Amino acid sequence: MKRMAVLTSGGDAPGMNAAIRAVVRAAVANDVEIFGVQRGYQGLIDGHIAPMDARSVSSIIHHGGTILRTARCPAFMEASGRAEAAAQLARLDIAGLVVIGGDGSYHGAHALVREHDIATVGIPGTIDNDIGGTQFTIGFDTALNIAVEAIDRLRDTAASHDRIFFVEVMGRHSGFIAMYSALAGGAEALLTPEQPTDINGLIASLREAKDRGKTSMIVVVAEGDDAGPAHTIAEHVANASEFKEPRVAVIGHLQRGGVPSAFDRVLAARMGVAAVETLLAGDRDVMIAFEDNALRTRPLEDAWRLRTRFDPDLFRVLQLLCV
Ligand code: ADP
Ligand code: F6P
Repeated sequence: MKRMAVLTSGGDAPGMNAAIRAVVRAAVANDVEIFGVQRGYQGLIDGHIAPMDARSVSSIIHHGGTILRTARCPAFMEASGRAEAAAQLARLDIAGLVVIGGDGSYHGAHALVREHDIATVGIPGTIDNDIGGTQFTIGFDTALNIAVEAIDRLRDTAASHDRIFFVEVMGRHSGFIAMYSALAGGAEALLTPEQPTDINGLIASLREAKDRGKTSMIVVVAEGDDAGPAHTIAEHVANASEFKEPRVAVIGHLQRGGVPSAFDRVLAARMGVAAVETLLAGDRDVMIAFEDNALRTRPLEDAWRLRTRFDPDLFRVLQLLCV
């Protein structure tokens, strides 16, 4: 394979730049001409595809976001959009594509392989950590640490005022950031999309914690919780209990920006090199997965077929320790 392209798609994640750098430099090292696509699948359709070299990715390893920009592209959901994208790649004689993104982006990549025989390899890049078959995705560790730092700060003020804080972290469909930040931040309660939320049960557990002598409490809420966002849940709790003045903090997109952690950079470096080597080995329609500190390839479909839910044992540990 003489020409490859790389794009980032879906929500940006810290460490995507480190992954782009690794893909570009691994390609250069293998005498492959490498192209960068701007704004994900939209750039592919529009033909915003430009050559890159080792210097195009200088001094980006420590920056969040993605120098290639990203987008959500409704046109790529249609076969006609994908045909246009494939024609743009064919025009430049590009035979391989590295897609850095989440499972939505993988659906698009999988369709591109099936319909147009373009060799694609996925690199898991999303703060949500919700891609099946890989224990970690690029960006999760950084986002988690930002959430934990926020919880630590909120605990200081919560403790000073004997208050309850509802802290909303990201995760529209996934409770990974919520679960890990609750554990690392020593939260008193956790609400995630994976478990049905019972407001009366929550109030009862807050009362029990108070009876055990707790004067301030942190409840971590994933944004996609079934009982609503943190503001709604706090209101329900205030209306139905003696906990009349809870405070709410929504960390939001702060979790998506900033300096990527060393873990995310190392993961990105390894995955970027593996993606290029996988394409050169003739493999396609696969993702790079991280398992037990080793990388392996898995079918792209595993991303949604094996969709990961957090380990219920983590919840048990949280419950055991939040007394
Ligand atoms: P993520 O990759 O982070 O999960 P999205 O779910 O928003 O983000 O998906 C990113 C993009 O991938 C979408 O805007 C769309 O262009 C493409 N995509 C998502 N799902 C599909 C699908 N079923 N078929 C084709 N393309 C898809
Ligand atoms: O998928 C990553 C993520 O940050 C989710 O946690 C969040 O629900 C969503 O993206 C927010 O997306 P947007 O960029 O459209 O606000």
